[in-house]
Amino acid sequence: MSHDRLPTDNPAVVTCGLPYANGDLHVGHLRTYVIGDTYTRALDRVGQQTAFVCGSDMHGTPVAVNAAEEGVSPEEFALDYHETYAETFPKFNVDFDNYGHTHDQTNTEMTQDFVSTWADQGHVIEKEIQVAWDSEEDQPLPDRYVEGTCPYCGEQARGDECDEGCQRHLEPGEIEDPVSTLTGNPAEYRTREHKFLRLSDFQEYLQDFIDRLEGTENARNQPREWIEGELQDLCITRDMDWGIDYPEQGDTEEDLVLYVWVDAPIEYVSSTKQYTERVGAEEYDWEDVWKLDGERRPSTEWDEEWTDDAGEIVHVIGRDIIQHHTVFWPTMLRAAGFSEPRAVLATGFVGIDGKALSTSRNRAVWADEYLDTGFHPDLFRYYITTGSGIEKDVDFSWDRFQERVNGELVGNLGNFCYRALLFAHRNYDGTPEADVSDEVRERITDAISDFEDAVAEYTLRDISDVAVGLADFGNGYIQRHEPWNLVDEDPEQAAQVIRDCVQVAKACAVLMQPIMPEKAAALWDQLGEAGTVADAELSDALDAPPAEFDAPEELFTEIEDEEVEDLNETLRERVAEASESDETENEETDLEPLAEDRISFEDFQDLDIRVGEITAAEEIEDSDNLMRLEVDIGVEQRQVVAGIKGLHDAADLPGTRCVLLANMEQAELFGYESNGMLLAAGEDADILTTHGDSGPGTKIR
Ligand code: MSP
Ligand code: ZN
Repeated sequence: MSHDRLPTDNPAVVTCGLPYANGDLHVGHLRTYVIGDTYTRALDRVGQQTAFVCGSDMHGTPVAVNAAEEGVSPEEFALDYHETYAETFPKFNVDFDNYGHTHDQTNTEMTQDFVSTWADQGHVIEKEIQVAWDSEEDQPLPDRYVEGTCPYCGEQARGDECDEGCQRHLEPGEIEDPVSTLTGNPAEYRTREHKFLRLSDFQEYLQDFIDRLEGTENARNQPREWIEGELQDLCITRDMDWGIDYPEQGDTEEDLVLYVWVDAPIEYVSSTKQYTERVGAEEYDWEDVWKLDGERRPSTEWDEEWTDDAGEIVHVIGRDIIQHHTVFWPTMLRAAGFSEPRAVLATGFVGIDGKALSTSRNRAVWADEYLDTGFHPDLFRYYITTGSGIEKDVDFSWDRFQERVNGELVGNLGNFCYRALLFAHRNYDGTPEADVSDEVRERITDAISDFEDAVAEYTLRDISDVAVGLADFGNGYIQRHEPWNLVDEDPEQAAQVIRDCVQVAKACAVLMQPIMPEKAAALWDQLGEAGTVADAELSDALDAPPAEFDAPEELFTEIEDEEVEDLNETLRERVAEASESDETENEETDLEPLAEDRISFEDFQDLDIRVGEITAAEEIEDSDNLMRLEVDIGVEQRQVVAGIKGLHDAADLPGTRCVLLANMEQAELFGYESNGMLLAAGEDADILTTHGDSGPGTKIR
């Protein structure tokens, strides 16, 4: 079962991954929002009724941890950022129809309603699980309060996500070698009772869902691996104060709040609802999008009717949260009786110099910083959305930014529109009287249909290429026909050529509007058009522009080398500082935390540690890492098996002074008896030695 091609008669909603209200926005975050905004405008352009909604993600440990560091309440802290975000987005021409937040009443009620429905439908179970615990602080360590090793890929992972490795979601208790981020101590595990959403009830549903899902390749393919085996239950509660309470909880569960990934995506629905509350259901009805005939139909199966009649739900996110949007979220919707996403667009990550952006290390280009440069927001929008497919990871670079603005926008699009309009204004006071040639009509018609294909296929890059490609054609067309010669030689032909060019410029305005809304509006004004380009339809690209318009202005200005040099310099310094802090941090994290339990002097005395001298050494053939040593400890000769093969050369060892734990339990390794333990430091097995003249057998105390 597949979806009807976009646009459809149903209302659509485009959402963006909610920003955590816990820090400044950077160019990486903006990739999600600019693409969401561009796609919304493009849908609108092809005639699809669309709402564009988002909100701030107020809960969860990312917010709680940062608020605690600043010594303010999570609510105050998060609201502050929420307000900043709401002000920042419009400065990038990212215009949400509704921008709410997850802590407001609409979302609190909506979330509790979802969860109660899951419970009523029998999809919620209680389980006792082992949760990480900091015994010094005597508190549980949910999510980002704990760091350790990802059990799936072995990378360093944070709490509930393997953000530097396989990107998987990690359930409480899954992380290996957990360390508390509060104290740096190894975490203990304690038994706690938690609620789980039984994802396995939806296994078959999810498999079909993935087949129906549209959007980028990564979002449609990665989930297949995650839903292959039996789905693990999703723990939906946390031992925390900050969050939305588990509905109707008794006294026994006082500190249980819902996991942030429960109430966060539900904000997509809440925010759409708020939009309807503002504009009225006649204009846009959230229930037509998220429900079928205004009703919820909880089930573990898909109702075919949904595909035709419910709204078109499109999520725009970064590739780090694909699992949440293609496995957990569809299950949450289905279990509560709501419609499912039609498409997920997952963008690649933005980095700098091949490294991930990092808020804590200040390796980033900040949203405010861009605005401070005075470069027009539409230039950023163009740069961050185009240039490569949206799935690709990209490095932010001011040089590349300059190159693309100067080459594609100034040199091509801007140059063409300026030339065409200036010529038209000077010679005809506006659009000359003539018909558009067949060639140009066809070229514009093709551009419109390419635009429509790009919207239906979610290929954002093509959406912008269409306008720039058309301008490129226009430049060639002027060059080919040399209207400046024709004006005298063949006035009729000259009028025809300029009429064509003005038409192409108008088509550019219509087609570039989703990506560069303000620049398109400026061009629209220059053409003397009434109304706004935002309200124009695709077919307007072929309608005659006004007969009169004023002298045009250049749409884009060239970015000078000096401007970029300063920005490069600032960024270079910042990246260097960030790398230094990477290194110090690595040194720190390589060290294991200090043992917490103290031992008595008596305990220590139980260890019989002696100075020894290695007299013979040979590698054990079948073993990867073992070596057989003979060690003289004064009173006797010992045979010891040590894990130092590959780290030391056997031939170098005889004569080396060493330290041996002499009363180590005897063991047999690869058929050799090991009678004592050689002491060595670190991963490279740096062999402990002595520096004075204490001979073999001397006791160490
Ligand atoms: N709060 C969650 C999303 C909840 S959605 C129900 C979150 N927040 S975030 O602040 O970390 O990220 C917000 C958006 O920015 C997400 O779409 C995320 O994928 C995106 N990006 C964050 N850093 C990014 C880059 N460096 N590059 C590209 N996108 C990035 O995740
Ligand atoms: Zn991993």
